[in-house]
Amino acid sequence: MTYATLADVDVAGKRVLLRVDFNVPLESGRIVDGTRIRESLPTVRWLLRHGARQVILMSHLGRPKGREEKSSLRPVAAHLHGLLGEQVGFVDDCLSPVPSTRVVLLENLRFHPEEEKNERAFAEKLAAHADLYVNDAFGTAHRAHASVAAITEFLPSCAGLLMAKELKMLHAVAQGAKPLVVLLGGAKLETKLPVIERFLPFAERILVGGAMPYTFLAAEGGSVGSSLVEQDYFDRARELLHDRLFREKVLFPEDCIISPDATGNSPMKESPSKMIPEGWMGLDLGTKSTEAFLKELGRAKTVLWNGPLGFAEVPAFAMATERIAFALAEGRAKVVAGGGDTLAVVERLGLTAKYAHCSTGGGAFLELISGKKLPALEALERG
Ligand code: 3PG
Repeated sequence: MTYATLADVDVAGKRVLLRVDFNVPLESGRIVDGTRIRESLPTVRWLLRHGARQVILMSHLGRPKGREEKSSLRPVAAHLHGLLGEQVGFVDDCLSPVPSTRVVLLENLRFHPEEEKNERAFAEKLAAHADLYVNDAFGTAHRAHASVAAITEFLPSCAGLLMAKELKMLHAVAQGAKPLVVLLGGAKLETKLPVIERFLPFAERILVGGAMPYTFLAAEGGSVGSSLVEQDYFDRARELLHDRLFREKVLFPEDCIISPDATGNSPMKESPSKMIPEGWMGLDLGTKSTEAFLKELGRAKTVLWNGPLGFAEVPAFAMATERIAFALAEGRAKVVAGGGDTLAVVERLGLTAKYAHCSTGGGAFLELISGKKLPALEALERG
């Protein structure tokens, strides 16, 4: 992969357009999790320290249809001001002239539909704000949008510190010390199967929890009650279950915690995963599978983790995920974790600093570890 980094450019006296991913959760204008903002600060500070005349930050927030107040980046400007201790000029429309403060934040790029259409003319107008473009928005690298793709046609371009760190850490996983164990949870086979397929040849073990095992069990004729299954994947699941490597390496939970619903207020009990009674659903790993997963993870030197092992939004079904999160934090393996739901648990338990790397990417993280080409990286390589 050949793209320029900050080490390759001279920023002194330049106006720098810095694409960040400030797509952070907001509740009534309050930032619920500011990790992505914090993780962008090293690049902002680096640019200022190296004499950039102005750092103009731009991002999207949410998926607005046109201009919507609830998706305004204004609260982020105030937050950024607090973190940087530096005045942050805010521009109400990303194409309007910018004020003269050293740090500026442009309003949500997605208020202009041209952003998601990757329109060259829109990218050219954004580019007119600056002399140099830096992309630090790893979380958005899987989108072919104007501010991460087309823009590199109009300005000298390079990757920021966060982007470079994410790429280095995630590429290093595949070459990491062996045994490598991949731990997957969550629900969507569409995004997780490519990860399983990519790592099958070289991971020692792939542990699959969350809702995904029920699709495999149901495809084989197991009784999974009302557990979440993806019928569209039954054929693919059957094919994989006949694959020698898949059978050797992939470990599914043999037991689970079941309940009639996911509220956490109804009765709960343990059950073999393929004998769940009608009207009950699997919502967390059972005792035996938690122990089996912990044993495999205990042998690993490198762990790649994406997705909670149970329905972790409800505390009653977050037990296995929490136990595993603690064990990984205390263990000897180098752990690389990613995905919003996974990191929400890791953060809540105060374990973020114990892992080798916690990615700021959700979709981008999964696509990169699946071996897919990310449009923003291809644009940086061209730029
Ligand atoms: C993310 O949170 O995954 C990125 O910011 C991309 O957001 P999107 O899925 O709305 O494109």
